Amino acid sequence: MADPKKLFIKTYGCQMNVYDSERMAEAMGGSGYIATDTPEDADMILLNTCHIREKAAEKVYSELGRFRGLKDANPDLKIGVAGCVAQAEGDEIMRRQPLVDLVVGPQSYHRLPAMEARTRAGEKVLDTDFPEEDKFEKLQSRPKASRGPTAFLTVQEGCDKFCAFCVVPYTRGAEVSRPGDRVMSEARDLVSRGVREITLLGQNVNAYHGQGTDGGDWGLARLIRELAEIDGLDRIRYTTSHPNDMEDDLIAAHGDCAKLMPYLHLPVQSGSDRILKRMNRSHTADSYLRLIERIRTVRPDILLSGDFIVGFPEETDEDFEATMRLVEEVRYGQCYSFKYSTRPGTPAAERPQLPEEVKSERLQRLQALLSQQQAEIQDSMVGREVNVLFEKKGRLPGQLIGKSDYLHAVYTQAPESLLGQIARVRITASSSNSLAGALVGV
Ligand code: 5AD
Ligand code: SF4
Repeated sequence: MADPKKLFIKTYGCQMNVYDSERMAEAMGGSGYIATDTPEDADMILLNTCHIREKAAEKVYSELGRFRGLKDANPDLKIGVAGCVAQAEGDEIMRRQPLVDLVVGPQSYHRLPAMEARTRAGEKVLDTDFPEEDKFEKLQSRPKASRGPTAFLTVQEGCDKFCAFCVVPYTRGAEVSRPGDRVMSEARDLVSRGVREITLLGQNVNAYHGQGTDGGDWGLARLIRELAEIDGLDRIRYTTSHPNDMEDDLIAAHGDCAKLMPYLHLPVQSGSDRILKRMNRSHTADSYLRLIERIRTVRPDILLSGDFIVGFPEETDEDFEATMRLVEEVRYGQCYSFKYSTRPGTPAAERPQLPEEVKSERLQRLQALLSQQQAEIQDSMVGREVNVLFEKKGRLPGQLIGKSDYLHAVYTQAPESLLGQIARVRITASSSNSLAGALVGV
């Protein structure tokens, strides 16, 4: 038998890309590839790219440039670009970077093995279609090997919201939900291989509406309740959500579904109604705050996370102060915040832009407040007992690292036999991005 060929995949951006990279690696397994962690010994390099902000997209070209030496040393090396930059700029990538053999958009990953075969015949191949067939159906199912205790599972893709700053509706297309039976069988398979926690993924995951196993329509809450019936699956999470899709039954599930973890990523982007309108967000600061209140009524300890954009076109000091006030009011446990980045082809790109210094200054102030809130919430965990799912060994001898229900990273002295298990841990200390704890009853 020929030696297996080696595939190096580098993943940028969101968790959906992480999931997609795993699926692509599995699909290429069928073509005799095994994964490698180093580009130097690879027969194929695949960059799974992100187009959400300008910096993310530019990284692709600088990274590709770095592979020139490898291609000189090994002319058989094939280089591919996948993900959202591939979707948005496929032709340009081929023109700008002759090293690239293959460009594949996110909806065509099931065609990757056939595309790779064509590159071996010396062709350059580009596929950024939105094909009729379902790529998840066509992608080879996961190999039966056991795996770590946490997994992502994409249940929904695409976005119909068209926020004025965002490329996702263009790169990932319209909202599509996978049928319930496909999601259920993938989840059961994951659990049979040791997974205890599943994070359901979608660009707009709470807009999930898939065909149920009973033929009816399942919203995300129903899907979560069905998944919660799977023995051995202990934790369910989902990300990322839009405030307008937080339906009543999903809020209720946060109160009464024990396996649904008390953590919610619910981006608001801005606290100014004027800017929210210009962003085409179709909610107000007040409607968001009322929504948070309803969620906290059913689950008072829920940890909230969000996304913010500062320096959106026309954002005044007053608008920015409204964002700061909203943050003060919500008290987030964790957040992502960004300077507005102009994305060609989106409505906001056509508007007058704010100076870079203004964006930087606002981002600094917002991040200082968000870090302070994160630290306060972490510090408030000290002395409390939490459940931790241990995922891997720590750097210190005898140490394991896991996540609490609230998604805090927790370092604990614990026997290796607890890897993949959930244990009670008393939190003893809080540091910048993690907590330390001790096993309860030991
Ligand atoms: N500029 C800055 N941030 C953006 N995001 C999306 N588009 C842009 C942009 N053009 C942020 C939003 C979104 C997160 C995934 O990325 O906050 O929620
Ligand atoms: Fe982008 Fe808005 Fe859709 Fe989120 S909801 S993916 S920010 S367009």
